[in-house]
Amino acid sequence: MTWNATIVGTGLGVPSKVVTNKDFEKMVDTSDEWIRTRTGICERRFIDRDKGETLETIALQAGKKALENAKTKPEDIDLIIFATTSPDTFMPNMSCRMTASLGLVNAAAIDQNAACSGFVLGMHTADSFIRSGQYKNIMVIGGEALSSALDMKDRSTCVLFGDGAGAAIVQAVENADLSKDSVILGSKFYAKADVKESLSMAGGGTRTPYWHEDFAKVGPYIRMQGQDVFKEATRGMVRAAKEVMAQCEVMPSDIKWFVPHQANLRIIEMVGKMLEIPSEKTYINLDRWGNTSAATVITCLAEMEEKNMINKGDLVLMDVFGGGFSYGALLARW
Ligand SMILES: CC(C)(COP(=O)(O)OP(=O)(O)OC[C@H]1O[C@@H](n2cnc3c(N)ncnc32)[C@H](O)[C@@H]1OP(=O)(O)O)[C@@H](O)C(=O)NCCC(=O)NCCS
Repeated sequence: MTWNATIVGTGLGVPSKVVTNKDFEKMVDTSDEWIRTRTGICERRFIDRDKGETLETIALQAGKKALENAKTKPEDIDLIIFATTSPDTFMPNMSCRMTASLGLVNAAAIDQNAACSGFVLGMHTADSFIRSGQYKNIMVIGGEALSSALDMKDRSTCVLFGDGAGAAIVQAVENADLSKDSVILGSKFYAKADVKESLSMAGGGTRTPYWHEDFAKVGPYIRMQGQDVFKEATRGMVRAAKEVMAQCEVMPSDIKWFVPHQANLRIIEMVGKMLEIPSEKTYINLDRWGNTSAATVITCLAEMEEKNMINKGDLVLMDVFGGGFSYGALLARW
């Protein structure tokens, strides 16, 4: 008997506050034109604390919708994987929190921190667990409230990120025919240590806790050397996507939808060109969401499903890069 994983439902969690590039013009020395042309971002969403929104509330919205779309009962979920770099609290972690808010009474719970690669790495983990026969119904959530980690005086980072959440339900299929059934066909992940800490949230961990005298120097914020990250992201995403296509014996022309990490439109275009996947096959929501880190790919997939853009049998290639550095790709037949 063999087991494979299939994606049976997705859901979106949408923060209510919309922040436009024009809003940033009032906070830092920037312009709508600079942000659009250098990144492709027009607006992003932040959780609204005044309305009681947290990462958990938007993840709950995504998780409920995914269960509904997958026609799956909360008690049938046997594992939840929550990918995030911006948990409401480090302890209890997000996946344990969600077992209560979603009523996952029979689930084990894992948080995975792989920054922007988080959701797809979570799907890679879910696929491996299902192939091993260990779990049958897994919820994978990618969610971030990174607005809380933005230095609103640092124009080179604060305009880039947004909040958001999405969830997918992944189910076990017995003895699938890999040549035609709807399954995850393959995935490949790598890490390359970011020794220079070109992309980091240095303060608030145990190396420099909040009470430490050095905390004021590093702060609780995301810091980034954008050009270093740009080069590594392009290199990593191209490598991973090429290797997954080779592993699954799939040509770029076979791909129906390319769903890359949404950090910068120029990275997406460059990677697409190097992979020979045309822009018409590439899904973009960066313009409306900014970089939602672990949530980028799943918010794309959930939106595409809401718009009925993905048909049964379509080959969907997900391709990500994130802090750490961590990068990888996953190919699924819908
Ligand atoms: C961040 C990023 C958009 C910057 O674009 P860039 O073309 O590399 O721009 P640079 O960093 O070279 O900065 C060019 C100039 O714009 C300025 N600048 C930076 N942010 C700005 C902003 N929001 N508005 C206006 N000017 C800005 C810089 O200060 C610099 O000015 P200077 O030449 O006077 O020093 C780009 O490097 C990027 O997207 N990198 C990858 C980010 C990423 O993928 N992150 C997440 C990975 S998971």
